[in-house]
Amino acid sequence: MQIRPFLESDESAVIALWNACKLTRPWNDPRKDIARKLTVQRELFFVGVIDNDIVASVMAAFDGHRGWINYLAVHPDFQRRKLGATLMKYVEQRLLDAGCPKINLQVRSTNENVLKFYRDIGYEQDDVVSLGKRLIPDAPAANTAASSLASKRLRNGPRPSAPKRFESLQ
Ligand SMILES: CC(C)(COP(=O)(O)OP(=O)(O)OC[C@H]1O[C@@H](n2cnc3c(N)ncnc32)[C@H](O)[C@@H]1OP(=O)(O)O)[C@@H](O)C(=O)NCCC(=O)NCCS
Repeated sequence: MQIRPFLESDESAVIALWNACKLTRPWNDPRKDIARKLTVQRELFFVGVIDNDIVASVMAAFDGHRGWINYLAVHPDFQRRKLGATLMKYVEQRLLDAGCPKINLQVRSTNENVLKFYRDIGYEQDDVVSLGKRLIPDAPAANTAASSLASKRLRNGPRPSAPKRFESLQ
């Protein structure tokens, strides 16, 4: 597997990969997730390629304190060949190169196989509760005005000051 940074032309193949891996969620628009990532540390968004096909992805970031991993995916036809472990090792080294002392990531508590995967490559469960607060609603079902405002904000950059109250969407 060749590992290289994501290119704009990879977008539809990567979204197809995420769909095949059941990583997409109604409240996350994958196109917007990609567009946002391309504005922040895009060099830490990688794809794995075999015979010109994108078979794996990982989106990483270093916030100056912790490294974060999202959208780790290996196409179902290519799983259990150590591609996930290889991609994680690669991205861990990139984060280490950036001075990152620790990686955090989130896995749904019911996803036993993925939890086993991470344990097997050296990740331990932290004694924390993961909290979240949605700032920009992506889902089409969400308030349309808010969605179009969010898209506009994505194109024009963040608004200067935060609104008083945000809608919570999980
Ligand atoms: C999680 C994922 C990336 C693992 O990729 P992978 O290439 O299949 O994993 P590897 O082959 O590198 O696995 C390394 C080890 O992890 C463990 N492991 C991996 N997948 C496992 C599974 N489904 N069940 C049990 N253990 C598993 C095994 O110990 C494995 O070694 P082995 O095959 O010699 O037994 C892949 O299953 C995937 O894309 N899942 C769907 C998307 C997803 O949920 N991503 C994580 C979001 S948090």
